[in-house]
Amino acid sequence: MISRSYEETIALGERLGSLLELGAFIALKGDLAGGKTTFTKGIGKALNVKGIVNSPTFTILKIYEGDKTLYHIDAYRLENNEYDLGIDEYEDEGIMVVEWPEYYEKYLPKEYLEVIFEYIDDNTRNIEFIAHGEKYERIIEELGC
Ligand SMILES: Nc1ncnc2c1ncn2[C@@H]1O[C@H](COP(=O)(O)OP(=O)(O)O)[C@@H](O)[C@H]1O
Ligand SMILES: [Mg+2]
Repeated sequence: MISRSYEETIALGERLGSLLELGAFIALKGDLAGGKTTFTKGIGKALNVKGIVNSPTFTILKIYEGDKTLYHIDAYRLENNEYDLGIDEYEDEGIMVVEWPEYYEKYLPKEYLEVIFEYIDDNTRNIEFIAHGEKYERIIEELGC
């Protein structure tokens, strides 16, 4: 999919967010400033979370309460350290969104939705969805991507 603005990426995240059930796991890959955090804001919007979804420096995990709980992980600073965030046991109780899953590989479940963000120009991003598991194939179909 092509997103031509910040708002379009939020709207796309919101559409995905409305399709997610408890236990969903979303892995956001790709360029810096690709729109991963922006997309997560949209997911948060769909879940009616309180507070503003952002990625402040040095924060690895943020938990937002909403209609469903959103666990937002930015694994960039984990750099694959075997650091246990202690949240895998809560995965089924919320929606997990992980930026830089390359640094969180040990904790990736068998089934998840991969989303890859590519910077095209100032306002344009290519956003690719890859399903790992049947449940995510259905979600991509519903998204119409
Ligand atoms: N189409 C677009 N989708 C998402 N962000 C965009 C788009 N066009 C411009 N931007 C800008 O790119 C930046 C994306 O930042 P962010 O979502 O934090 O990226 P990441 O988390 O991937 O590093 C923001 O400053 C946003 O305003
Ligand atoms: Mg980010």
